[in-house]
Amino acid sequence: MDDLRQKYLDAIAGAADEASLEDLRVQAVGKKGEVALKMRELGKMTPEERLVVGPKLNALKDEINSALAAKKAGLADKALDERLRTEWLDVTLPGRGRREGTIHPVSQVTEEVAAIFADMGFTVAEGPQIENDWYNFDALNIPPHHPARQEFDTFYMHRAADDDRPPHVLRTHTSPVQIREMEKTGAPIRVIAPGRVYRSDYDQTHTPMFHQIEGMAIGKDISMANLKWVLEEFFAAFFEIDGIKTRFRASHFPFTEPSAEVDIQCSWVDGQLRIGEGDDWMEVLGSGMMHPKVLQAGGVDPDKWQGFAFGMGIDRIAMLKYGIPDLRAFFDSDLRWLRHYGFSALDMPTLHGGLSR
Ligand code: DAH
Repeated sequence: MDDLRQKYLDAIAGAADEASLEDLRVQAVGKKGEVALKMRELGKMTPEERLVVGPKLNALKDEINSALAAKKAGLADKALDERLRTEWLDVTLPGRGRREGTIHPVSQVTEEVAAIFADMGFTVAEGPQIENDWYNFDALNIPPHHPARQEFDTFYMHRAADDDRPPHVLRTHTSPVQIREMEKTGAPIRVIAPGRVYRSDYDQTHTPMFHQIEGMAIGKDISMANLKWVLEEFFAAFFEIDGIKTRFRASHFPFTEPSAEVDIQCSWVDGQLRIGEGDDWMEVLGSGMMHPKVLQAGGVDPDKWQGFAFGMGIDRIAMLKYGIPDLRAFFDSDLRWLRHYGFSALDMPTLHGGLSR
C-alpha cells in the first residue's frame, strides 16, 4: 500500500497538465483503478484483517484525491500567471488619434450666403435637380428654339422612342426655383435657392455639376435700386470688405428686363487675384428685374407686383474668397485638398460671430 501511495503521489507531483492528471485519477481511484482493485481483495480477508486494511485503503483514496485536487489548482494558477504575463497591456498608452472631417468650401459658402441673406429677410428654398422642360426653360421665357437653350449645354433625360413629350433635363440653373416658389407662396416674397446645377462642360473653371444660388424679391415697389443695395450689402459682408465696389453692366437674359451682369472690384498682383482693390473687374453674377412673363408663369400678377432676381455661382465665389485655383479639385474628394481648404464643423458662419475663421 505504501508503494502504491508513493507511486501516485510522485506521478501527481510531476504531472505537466490537466489531461495527464485526469489519466492518473482514472488509473488510481477510478472505478477500475488500482485502489478499487485492492478494495475488492477485502472480500477474501478475515473480519479482523478487514477492520485494519479497510480504513487504510479509504485513507489512501482520500490522500490521492486531495493530492489530485491540489495539483489541479496549482496547474490552473500557473496557467493564469502565464496568461497575465503574456497578455500584458499598457492602459496608460495614449490612444490613436482619429482626424476630424471638414466642412467642404461649397457647404461653408452656402451657409455664409444664407446667413447674410437671412439677415435681409430672405428665406431658403430648394427645388428638384431633375426638372421638366417647362420649369427650366419655358416658364423663364425661354421658348423652344430660343437660342438661349443652346447656350446651356443641357443634359437631357431619356424618353422612350414612341414618347414625343419633351424630355426632362438636369436643371441647368437654379432659376426654375423662382417659378416653384411663386407657385407655392405667391407675392410678396423674398427667397434664395442654393443647389446643384448641371451643364456639359469641363475645364479649369467648369465642371459638369456645379452650384448656384438664386435670389428673388417680389413686392409692390421693388426696383433696380433695391437690387443694387442688396447685392452691395451682400458683397461687403461676404468678402468682409466695407464699401467694396461693384459695377452693373447692361446685359441680356430672357427672364429679366432690364438685365445686368455684376462685377466686383479686383486687381491682379503677380498673377494673384485680390478682391476689393485695384481697378480691374471680376464678373460674379447675373441679375435684373423679373420679366412680366416670368411673374405670370409663377401665377403672380405683373400689373400689381414686380421683383428682382439674381443668380450666381457658389463655387466661383468660394474660389474668389478663399483663393482656390482649380474648380475641378472641388469634386475630386482628395483628403489632402479637403483638409487644406475645409472648415471646422464647429464654426457655424453667422453675421455676428464671423462668417469664417
Ligand atoms: N440663370 C442664369 C444662369 O444660370 C443666372 C441668372 C441671371 C439668374 C439673371 C437670374 C437672373 O435670376 O436674373 O446663367
